[in-house]
Amino acid sequence: MSELIIEGSRRLEGEIKLQGAKNSILPILASCIMCKGECIIHNCPNISDVDATIKILNHLGCKTNFENGTIIIDSSEVFKSTIPEFLMREMRSSIIFLGSLISTMGSAKLSLPGGCEIGPRPIDLHLDGLRQMGLTINESHGILKCTAKSKLRGCNISLSFPSVGATENLILAAVLAKGTTVITNAAKEPEIMDLINFLNKCGAKIKCFEGSTIIINGVSSLHSAEHTVMPDRIVAITYMSAAAVTAGSIILRNISEDIISSAVPIFEEAGCIIKFSNSDSLKIDCPSRPYFNRLIRTMPYPGFPTDAQPPVMAMTTIADGRSMFVENIFPNRYKHVGELLRLGADIKVEDKVAIVDGVKRLSGAKVKATDLRGAAALVVAGLAAEGITTITGLNYLDRGYEKIEENLISIGANVKRT
Ligand code: EPU
Repeated sequence: MSELIIEGSRRLEGEIKLQGAKNSILPILASCIMCKGECIIHNCPNISDVDATIKILNHLGCKTNFENGTIIIDSSEVFKSTIPEFLMREMRSSIIFLGSLISTMGSAKLSLPGGCEIGPRPIDLHLDGLRQMGLTINESHGILKCTAKSKLRGCNISLSFPSVGATENLILAAVLAKGTTVITNAAKEPEIMDLINFLNKCGAKIKCFEGSTIIINGVSSLHSAEHTVMPDRIVAITYMSAAAVTAGSIILRNISEDIISSAVPIFEEAGCIIKFSNSDSLKIDCPSRPYFNRLIRTMPYPGFPTDAQPPVMAMTTIADGRSMFVENIFPNRYKHVGELLRLGADIKVEDKVAIVDGVKRLSGAKVKATDLRGAAALVVAGLAAEGITTITGLNYLDRGYEKIEENLISIGANVKRT
């Protein structure tokens, strides 16, 4: 079992090139099976969720090549519509293959997806929408058998909650369906816009309107395209939190201002100075101790992202002041709290509310990650803590963070993986 050993309390200073977004590359890769020919996708992060997606693509019959951040996917010979349970269990976003398989093969057999344990993660919204489009779904003992007698047909789908995954699955099912699909109360996270941009390059006809409506006019086929994945806003916020707990000064390259607009005021209120320059880089200069005295509610985009709650909470543990978090997306997303307490944090949790009273210092301890962003929170706290912090459960961290220790070492951290 590998461990990350961090000797904390070192000021971080330097420059990091931000990786491509996990939550953008995963649905884009799943959509590639619908495109005839060879798709070329740049800025792909080398993370385990991408590896798991490539395994599914290869299993379905695609030929793939991943080199120097570029993945080439040739889907001219997709011949399977079944994904075995061991591949489905590797991550939550395996469920996005449902929409693209139905569009490509007219049927799909797969089991319920795995993923981080951050609360109940039903897929009722995905299935209800697909049924409205004409899909027959038999669900038994965790296996979904889905068939469409003829092409799916476009219809009006109103989501009761703007689910990211359901919106993506319905888009993928609708691009090759007959007629027009209108999704209202759709999720509009930047990663969904990235997927839409890619699909439109491939010949899809998707338009987004004010007020969370997405309209998809079905087309008869998609061709291949070349695309560069957007930067990862949650990884950016993680490094910004790391800078804030170490009185650091760091530059993030390969970022765009619009994607982290909901997080910038939080760091500014904490006393950090943030400057964007050359349209693709951000500099954050942090005070000797952050100040924090506010309420953060996680909300669908453009609200504060649930994925950023754990690393930002880690920052508030050593900030001067009291903060309150209300987790509105995943009710169980506080598993990192117990581990932050081991490092000396002062946090109280009641249902979806967490109250953090900033302490003067954290001190190193042995902690265990149990989900991806919780793991990121432990890294941030470990960088702040005096002494040695040892983190296990790195398989979670590796799902979403490319070369994290290399990046942190390059800006002055003392981190090593055993
Ligand atoms: N929900 C339902 N029914 C559904 C779908 C969702 O009740 O059919 C509920 C979920 O239980 C949850 C809420 O809606 O309480 C939000 O779920 P959503 O479907 O929006 O999330 P997701 O598609 O499962 C994606 C990201 C998550 C991110 C969430 C919210 C990917 C691969 N995953 O998950 O990313 O937290 O959207 O923004 O895109 C991460 O990167 O660490 C991560 C967990």
